[in-house]
Amino acid sequence: MFDTMTMTKAVGSVCGSLLVLMLVNWAADGLYHVGATGHGAEGGVTQAYIIDTGEEAAPAEAEAETVDVAALMASADPVAGEAVFKKCGSCHKLDGSNGVGPHLNGVVGRNLAAVQGYSYSEAMAAKSAEPWTEEALFAYLENPKKAIPGTKMAFAGLPKPEDRANVIAYLAANP
Ligand code: HEC
Repeated sequence: MFDTMTMTKAVGSVCGSLLVLMLVNWAADGLYHVGATGHGAEGGVTQAYIIDTGEEAAPAEAEAETVDVAALMASADPVAGEAVFKKCGSCHKLDGSNGVGPHLNGVVGRNLAAVQGYSYSEAMAAKSAEPWTEEALFAYLENPKKAIPGTKMAFAGLPKPEDRANVIAYLAANP
């Protein structure tokens, strides 16, 4: 049976839910400016976007990842990068000696094809006036043959932006 306490709790929880809904709505409005679709929409229509925000946030994030190398690098983890580097270790060393590939000590900021005594591909040697910026490494490590057609690095690439950022952070920590 309903007593006063139960009623109070019920009313309280309904009010609480409404409040949360309102806050979520405000937060969603603030985070994801709805732009063209939400233009001039009434409160009721805007609320419909609560359901969509999760799905809309995902592509926006993915897009930012491909563009914003600096932001990814800011949160990159050299320790995780050391694990990723296991994929590179069969060809690259970090002790100043060359293997199948050139040594990668200090590669971040070094010019392309700059290791003396290593025989680079013509494609790589042709770019020796350019520095290995984080952006350049980011593109090369995603898809070496696409970034530098003719490179002899036989590596498919690291599809995950986080893996690339982490391994670059690891390389940057090895001068
Ligand atoms: C199968 C062997 C192989 C693997 C695996 C490999 N590389 Fe390479 N890498 C090479 C070779 C060979 C070159 C020289 C490319 C050229 O001359 O075109 C090279 C070149 C490079 C360069 C340019 C160096 C310079 O001096 O300009 C970078 C940077 C690089 N690799 C990073 C990596 C990273 C990071 C990984 C792992 C995610 C990796 N590579 C995996 C063989 C490999």
